[in-house]
Amino acid sequence: MQRILVINGPNLNLLGRREPEIYGTDTLDTIAARTAALIPDGMAVEWKQSNHEGDIIDAIHQAGFDPDCIGIVLNAGAYTHTSLAIADAIAAVPAPVIEVHLSNVFAREEIRHRSLIAPVCKGSISGFGDKSYALAIRALID
Ligand code: DQA
Repeated sequence: MQRILVINGPNLNLLGRREPEIYGTDTLDTIAARTAALIPDGMAVEWKQSNHEGDIIDAIHQAGFDPDCIGIVLNAGAYTHTSLAIADAIAAVPAPVIEVHLSNVFAREEIRHRSLIAPVCKGSISGFGDKSYALAIRALID
């Protein structure tokens, strides 16, 4: 069965409670349930969240070489701005990776304007709230 992996990085387990004025009031589970409607029959979407850089890298390695995985949607949280190791993992795997952010990182503090992962991702979606995930999933399916 074809599959998509959605990986969420540090602090995204707190969605719904974390700075709701920036990230909204939906939890990650709610967002995952809402996007389930987009998934055609015969395809699976799996959601993961980890606060640990190495776990995120392991998940990229595992899904990224799986021939059934049509792509990875990655909200790397603050690791977006700091992690050369995650960028290297993305570059190492054949599966396309789409970078997503709930907030518009370019409208925020300058440190968030730099993404170490953007150059090795297929594309980036930022600023559409929970719809950032839906747009990325749709792009992979299309
Ligand atoms: C984020 C933006 C990052 O700058 C921040 O560190 C996050 C969430 C977003 O989804 O808007 O943790 O990736």
